[in-house]
Amino acid sequence: MEILRVENATKTYSLEGEEIKALRDVSFSLDAGDITVILGPSGSGKSTLLSLLGGLSSPSEGKVFCKGRSLYELPVDELSHLRNKAFGFIFQFHLLMPELTALENVILPGQIGRREFEECRERAEKLLKHVGLGERMNHKPGELSGGEQQRVAVCRALMNEPEIIMADEPTGNLDTKTAEGIHDVLWDLCQKEGRTLIVVTHYEPLAKRADHILTLNAGQVVKKRS
Ligand SMILES: Nc1ncnc2c1ncn2[C@@H]1O[C@H](COP(=O)(O)OP(=O)(O)O)[C@@H](O)[C@H]1O
Ligand SMILES: [Mg+2]
Repeated sequence: MEILRVENATKTYSLEGEEIKALRDVSFSLDAGDITVILGPSGSGKSTLLSLLGGLSSPSEGKVFCKGRSLYELPVDELSHLRNKAFGFIFQFHLLMPELTALENVILPGQIGRREFEECRERAEKLLKHVGLGERMNHKPGELSGGEQQRVAVCRALMNEPEIIMADEPTGNLDTKTAEGIHDVLWDLCQKEGRTLIVVTHYEPLAKRADHILTLNAGQVVKKRS
């Protein structure tokens, strides 16, 4: 079943009177539960595409649909509801709250979503145990390695059981071995829970593990493999 569709999307930024075409006439669709890897050189429009898909920034032309609804034609409150509930984001720099423990960081989105505390704590503990941090739950980010911190960020993105997880170079600042560990937990959690996963990466071997690959170059999709 289709979950996301992009139709003829173009994104143009204006910078000091100059127009930058970050995306040029991009169209594709993704099914629920699929894992998609987005590849492409720096500046090819990967982050721009992800922000369009995630309801964070509207296309200059064209449309983005989530379950058949045109994202940027939704009332503002419905779009922000969708962003908080249906989408989970993971970035290269995890932006964990330094004064909170790993467990508290993972619980936080649940609390923002006004879910019952005990239920949040149980889910957060389960996620952290699953990524091998069962013994480190009460440590603060400053007491964890970069890879461990990113595993906490993965758990945090999954806390509210979003249908769609979007990761923008989630392992960009980690060594290969640590990065592979993160990819493993991300894949495992998404496959186990049937989540749709979209990962932007420079790390090409990851593409082998995806259902779809989208390769961008200069704002265009130059290669699709499904
Ligand atoms: N907010 C912005 N204002 C102006 N130009 C931008 C902005 N964000 C991105 N760009 C430009 O758009 C192009 C695509 O950027 P981006 O989507 O970040 O690429 P990638 O993630 O593949 O490195 C680049 O030329 C970049 O400089
Ligand atoms: Mg980027």
